[in-house]
Amino acid sequence: MSDRHHLVVPGLALLLSHCTPQAREGDVGAAQGNDAQSRTVAMDIHSSARPQEAVITHLHLDITVDMQAHRIAGTASYALAPGHGARVVLDTDGLQIGVVTDGSGRSLPYTLGEAGPLGAALEVELADQVDTIRIAYTTGPGARALQWLSPGQTKGGRHPFLFTQGQAILTRSWIPIQDSPGIRFTYEADVRVPSELMAVMSAANPQQRSADGTYHFRMDQPIPAYLMALAVGDIAFKPIGVRTGIYAEPELVEKAAWEFADMEEMVEAAEALYGPYRWERYDVLVLPPSFPFGGMENPRLTFATPTILSGDRSLTALIAHELAHSWSGNLVTNATWNDFWLNEGFTVYFEKRICERLYGPEYAGMLALLGYQDLQHAVARFTGEGAEQDTRLKLDLAGRDPDDGVSDIAYEKGYAFLRRLEEEVGRERFDAFLRAYFDRFAFKAITTEEFLAHLDEHLVRPLNVQVDIREWVYGTGMPKDLVVPVSDRFLKVEVEIERWRTGTPAKELRTTGWSTFEWMHFVRHLPDSLSGDRMADLDAAFGFTGSGNAEVVAAWLEQCVRNDYPPAYERLDAFLTEVGRRKFVQPLFEALQTSEKGRAMARNIYQRARPNYHSVTVRTIDELLDWTPMSDPVTL
Ligand code: BES
Ligand code: ZN
Repeated sequence: MSDRHHLVVPGLALLLSHCTPQAREGDVGAAQGNDAQSRTVAMDIHSSARPQEAVITHLHLDITVDMQAHRIAGTASYALAPGHGARVVLDTDGLQIGVVTDGSGRSLPYTLGEAGPLGAALEVELADQVDTIRIAYTTGPGARALQWLSPGQTKGGRHPFLFTQGQAILTRSWIPIQDSPGIRFTYEADVRVPSELMAVMSAANPQQRSADGTYHFRMDQPIPAYLMALAVGDIAFKPIGVRTGIYAEPELVEKAAWEFADMEEMVEAAEALYGPYRWERYDVLVLPPSFPFGGMENPRLTFATPTILSGDRSLTALIAHELAHSWSGNLVTNATWNDFWLNEGFTVYFEKRICERLYGPEYAGMLALLGYQDLQHAVARFTGEGAEQDTRLKLDLAGRDPDDGVSDIAYEKGYAFLRRLEEEVGRERFDAFLRAYFDRFAFKAITTEEFLAHLDEHLVRPLNVQVDIREWVYGTGMPKDLVVPVSDRFLKVEVEIERWRTGTPAKELRTTGWSTFEWMHFVRHLPDSLSGDRMADLDAAFGFTGSGNAEVVAAWLEQCVRNDYPPAYERLDAFLTEVGRRKFVQPLFEALQTSEKGRAMARNIYQRARPNYHSVTVRTIDELLDWTPMSDPVTL
């Protein structure tokens, strides 16, 4: 069989991308030669959608959110691109499908396939003249995108809360949809919620509660399904700048607005680097602590964990990161989850550039060095587990959940690759290249191979770049020519660690003026195997166990587990039962798993913590602890 296919249907030039990288470079040029209407759609193994047969262009969602029954019910109506074939295929996961009709209410025959790891394919038969389909549906009890919180799981304690998490393939569990990052559509939504609650989406948002609990949303820029997002709760708004602001529970909104006071300036810095912000407003929604990620770049409205409210504005790089996705990810989108590094590697690079502009090169240098440490850990770990293939930028996630491809490789090796290219051609030329890249591929999806073709044409050949690009993208392990970040401030931290190791009491160390990053570096690099007395010496001097900084506490608690330091276990228990952010929770459970005593503690804590975790964190920790949900009365 030929390894490339061009299927041209009206308005749609198709490129199936299971061919070799070399073969594909030529294809891309051909695909780009088509008229403005044409699209390039890469084959996505994580979606049942068949965009070459019929593809959605606009969604009208009309739903009621039942906070008591934990259910969303309503209709999803789609406009289809003209010239479609005899059927449209959508992704669903655990949805109950009711009637399916065309635009005039005539019912359309459909079949719902068997449920598998990717959900169940919904196949709707189309007559030629059908340009709209409407699907009535209800979400299932375990909808993986949704986390329904009881009042007790919120700051205010009086109202329930709901949020969605779509990336990577969870949107199909709350909307029947073509859930592939290469397929974009505009949307509008009518959402009904209890009148004491407010609804917000990845769209133009209200700034006040409506009187009757109905909300209308519009998203006029085309987005992929993983960026569909909804939150419902007791939510207040506070502006920061003219086009930036904070949504949060009323108890938190002031604190959050103070913490993220630089947001307007961040948008300006980002625009100065890589061109206009194309989404009108940039707001942040601070969620309850069970939110499974640090942040999620839902367009116009980043969803964020409250664990970045450190009280000293020291963790705002995360906001720079999610804002940067407004270019890398939301504007130029990875075509498949195998190309995930295009989203995250570019975003980490962009994030550091924003931070450098706002906070200076020393700050950005510390950030880069912490990232480099994460990369070293990821490479060592995958290599040690015999999973070298997961250290490649271009992934092969066939037969796996795309969530399994989420690691520091995409983020930090991706960053390091771009940093290496910057080093080679100089910052000015690299910035011009990136800016043109965002313009060239705006509102499009791109494969790794399309990026490499573009890179070759616009940077490598014109400037005779000598970097071994294929090794960077398709090779395993740590690249030999990586630019290792340096930080004088971290060198000073290392001097203090050495002084402490050789007998200077903790309270005599020279730590005045240290930032969160320095404390993180300090705690990460403590000597192995510390006695209770040595841990107590640090804790008494620096108050780590009682620290209000989640990054510092999380790093410290990991040391406490590794060194079996019981005075911190109450805090460990409280942290794990309150915070559901996987980046913190996972390493702590992993550390607990390394001893008999720790394993018992882990099971005891997880029994109580699990009902507070979102399904993505649950999936990871269930697997880690070999947890059988039977032992837990709460079904997720
Ligand atoms: N888009 C990601 C979160 C994500 C990735 C969700 C893959 C689901 C699947 C987001 O932009 C992100 O990278 N968040 C990081 C923040 C960080 C690197 C500053 C996080 O959550 O820790
Ligand atoms: Zn990201």
